[in-house]
Amino acid sequence: MSIANALQGRTLATAADLSVDEQRYLYRKTRELKEAWVSGGDLAPFRISDPDLNIYLMFLEDSTRTKESFRNASKFHDVALNIFDPSSSSFKKHESLVDTVKMLFGYGRRSIFIMRTKMEGVCRALEEQLGEYAERIGREKPVFINAGDGRHEHPTQEFLDEFTFLEQRGWDDSHIHVALIGDLQHGRTVHSKADGLKIFHSVRVDLVAPREISLPASYKSRMEDNGFEVREWESIEAYLDSGDISDCWYFTRLQLERMGDEIRERETELRRAVTFQKKWLEQMPENARFYHPLPRHREKPVIPSFLDDTPLNGWDGQSVNGYFTRVVELAMVAGKLGDDFEGIGFVPARKKKSFITE
Ligand code: NCD
Repeated sequence: MSIANALQGRTLATAADLSVDEQRYLYRKTRELKEAWVSGGDLAPFRISDPDLNIYLMFLEDSTRTKESFRNASKFHDVALNIFDPSSSSFKKHESLVDTVKMLFGYGRRSIFIMRTKMEGVCRALEEQLGEYAERIGREKPVFINAGDGRHEHPTQEFLDEFTFLEQRGWDDSHIHVALIGDLQHGRTVHSKADGLKIFHSVRVDLVAPREISLPASYKSRMEDNGFEVREWESIEAYLDSGDISDCWYFTRLQLERMGDEIRERETELRRAVTFQKKWLEQMPENARFYHPLPRHREKPVIPSFLDDTPLNGWDGQSVNGYFTRVVELAMVAGKLGDDFEGIGFVPARKKKSFITE
């Protein structure tokens, strides 16, 4: 099978796996797809339509939106969709992920694995190991898409977030001033922003989180290295007092399942610092929007439900965009889209070999 273009066969392990130009291409194509979908136009140019392409959904951690949007996007494409069930597989017999993936890879002519696991860096490691195996046996290399790996990254959420910001700004990519609020320590969607926000020519980031759940220093310095202006506050209240606030607020929930006991014991206090209150409504800038990768906590959401029917609600539209961006991402890595890509592509930096034993 020949490679159609530079995007085909690409693994998406981190947001930086697409160059800035490649991300812009993804957003342009997603806009075209969404417009065609809304107006009842021709969707065939976006559809992979290849029964020889196996898409495997391997979600070893819980998921609703990411899994369902990928499942629906795969159905749109008219390919062979397979949903791997870890709860009744040999995983329970301590089989390694490499062995499982190798077996599934053997079943199809072409494969895309969409994976959510606790194992950070798993997609990059599998790309290397399975890539070498495929080469050895003369097969097309499988693609791995990271649907969230522990506390590390969540590139496809990042792409839908950036698409949503652009859409809200009428496709103006000159500048963004965004506030990142909540659990910035464990929230992988925020970590991917250190590279994803580079699509804007000038970037200002306000970090709002108590010290215990603040953004890890490595991501903060990555933002600074990327030329972002970064400022920090420990609570929404302190942020509002500063008087210089963003109109684009990106919330994340407290990731209790990833916290140690010491931090979890302070849940109430931490939650209070990053939960929006009604009395602050009048301080919000005109045209302000709230975003959230979701899910929200049923009883104690950081964006309270009284905001659902207000113009601040940007999160519902954001979540729908997950479907459109993922349709296009699959079409890109499958070689269906990309022939008209013009720009600077991604130059891979070869990493040290890694092995997965889990
Ligand atoms: C996020 C995730 O799983 O990282 N959700 C998502 O993918 N839509 C955020 C979260 O779990 O808080």
